[in-house]
Amino acid sequence: MGFYSKYVLPTLTDLAMRSHTLRPERARWVSLAKGVVLEIGVGSGLNLPMYGREVRKLYALDPSEELLRRARLRAAWVAFAVEFLCRSAEAIPLGEASVDSVVTTWTLCTIPDPMAALQEIRRVLRPEGRLIFVEHGRSPDPAVVRWQDWLTPLWRRVAGGCHLNRPIDQLLRLGGFEVVEMNRGYLAGPRVGGYLYRGTARPAAGRRILAANTWTDKGVAYGA
Ligand SMILES: C[S@@+](CC[C@H](N)C(=O)[O-])C[C@H]1O[C@@H](n2cnc3c(N)ncnc32)[C@H](O)[C@@H]1O
Repeated sequence: MGFYSKYVLPTLTDLAMRSHTLRPERARWVSLAKGVVLEIGVGSGLNLPMYGREVRKLYALDPSEELLRRARLRAAWVAFAVEFLCRSAEAIPLGEASVDSVVTTWTLCTIPDPMAALQEIRRVLRPEGRLIFVEHGRSPDPAVVRWQDWLTPLWRRVAGGCHLNRPIDQLLRLGGFEVVEMNRGYLAGPRVGGYLYRGTARPAAGRRILAANTWTDKGVAYGA
């Protein structure tokens, strides 16, 4: 891992994700988590103050040791136990049906194999549990999508693998989740990175699930 990925990117990520426009989204959705919670891509821990009293324990997963170092500082102020997992979402070191809620905010855009991650989330989530998501992704407007598709190859190189153009609703569906509620729309600011999908989903029974390594980001699954 180079100097940029190890030190510069975590600092930029923390600064960018502290944006005040994101705070109301965090407060609205993260507060729905309850019981034993797994946060995927916890980053620098900006969601930690948003969790409510119904949280018993939080597993805070992220592959970036530098971001986890920052999250550990924020975890000192919360009332529930936090266990940090320096791992990728494609291989979650937790047992089957062991968590009540999974939270992911601005992270599905970045995970290299989102299908593998969603399968892992399905595995560790109790059947009656909820996946709570706040994610940016593919816009419904063709003019914005053109920019998203054009910029993504460059953007992902400087932004730690972030894709501007992933269709989050399709990803969830193909990953075996049924959306329970979802609000979509633009945040204030540049539209190319500001189209938000936020809501909750549950494991869908009997759904055909796309296998790990089959999501290509090149349009193969977009029409599925
Ligand atoms: C844009 S940041 C969002 C951080 C945090 N969720 C937030 O809302 O502030 C994307 C996060 O995804 C994490 N990430 C990247 N690859 C990942 C993977 N394979 N599994 C889990 N998290 C990953 C990054 O380390 C980073 O913390």
